[in-house]
Amino acid sequence: MSKFYIAFAPLQGYTDCAYRRAHCEVVGGVDEYYTPFVHLENGAPRRKDLWDIDLERNEGVPTVPQVIARDRDEFARLCDAVQAAGWNRIDLNMGCPFPMQMGAGRGCGLLVHADRIAEIAEEMHRRRDVAFSVKMRLGLECVEEGMDLLPIVNEMPLVHVTVHPRVGKQQYKGMADKEAFGRFARGCRLPVVYNGDLLSVDDVAAVMQCFPTMKGVMLGRGLLACPWMFSDKEPRAVVREMHDRIYRHACETLQGDSQILTRLHAFWEYQTVLPDKKQYKTIMKSGSLRRYDEAVASLWR
Ligand SMILES: Cc1cc2nc3c(=O)[nH]c(=O)nc-3n(C[C@H](O)[C@H](O)[C@H](O)COP(=O)(O)O)c2cc1C
Repeated sequence: MSKFYIAFAPLQGYTDCAYRRAHCEVVGGVDEYYTPFVHLENGAPRRKDLWDIDLERNEGVPTVPQVIARDRDEFARLCDAVQAAGWNRIDLNMGCPFPMQMGAGRGCGLLVHADRIAEIAEEMHRRRDVAFSVKMRLGLECVEEGMDLLPIVNEMPLVHVTVHPRVGKQQYKGMADKEAFGRFARGCRLPVVYNGDLLSVDDVAAVMQCFPTMKGVMLGRGLLACPWMFSDKEPRAVVREMHDRIYRHACETLQGDSQILTRLHAFWEYQTVLPDKKQYKTIMKSGSLRRYDEAVASLWR
């Protein structure tokens, strides 16, 4: 398995710098961790996003900062900020289906603006010292939109293209279209990474067997559910150690029970394997840190 590239997908609200570090240091087995997208708020890069990609805060963790932009101007401003923070590796989000982003022509909303993508490609060419990648869906309405972009994508200066073979209007419903992924990968002259619905090592092996020439895979929810997936570590020990690190980080950096609990509840959201249903409910319903501590402590007894 190790000869394939394995990436941890960005998941806004879940894979913040504390989570990425905890996973990297406790488990490992992942080549690169993508950050949730950095975006503009009132014309400037959001401070919270820049905080999350701070170089020191991510030291020792192989991190890829991601940006989301609707056109060349936004893209250039975000690249300026990410480069000024010390990075020479940037991923562009062309897949986000959140209505706010999609509706503004960002994320998968950008996929129907070939002219803007071509201008962004020019901007990438101008920034020779940055290694770029793109993470995309195969369209907004239908996969042919993604296929039509192949000539532009093929001319982009990218280390690879990560493809989540759903279209925007599907959100996360329905099936990932592996046939369309195969067609896109065959037409793409750049290394391709598969992303979507890989929940186990067997799923990864199956998709690698199906597309043996691709560079590797990116996993999101599967790794949130089973963070130990690419290690031989004991699942309970992994979850406990990761949780304790994220807990300490939340208490150090957030204020008040409510903020801290929001962050900690997110940790358990996909983590349904470990606690039984009753324990899970008690954790998720805990309205104070004291109650939360009691609920989590009962897991390890
Ligand atoms: C809650 C949530 C937040 C996400 N945030 C991002 C993001 O910031 N950037 C991005 O490129 N994709 C984001 N995604 C998409 C994931 O990175 C990934 O492409 C998607 O979940 C499919 O992969 P999976 O089936 O392995 O989870 C998000 C998905 C979810 C469910």
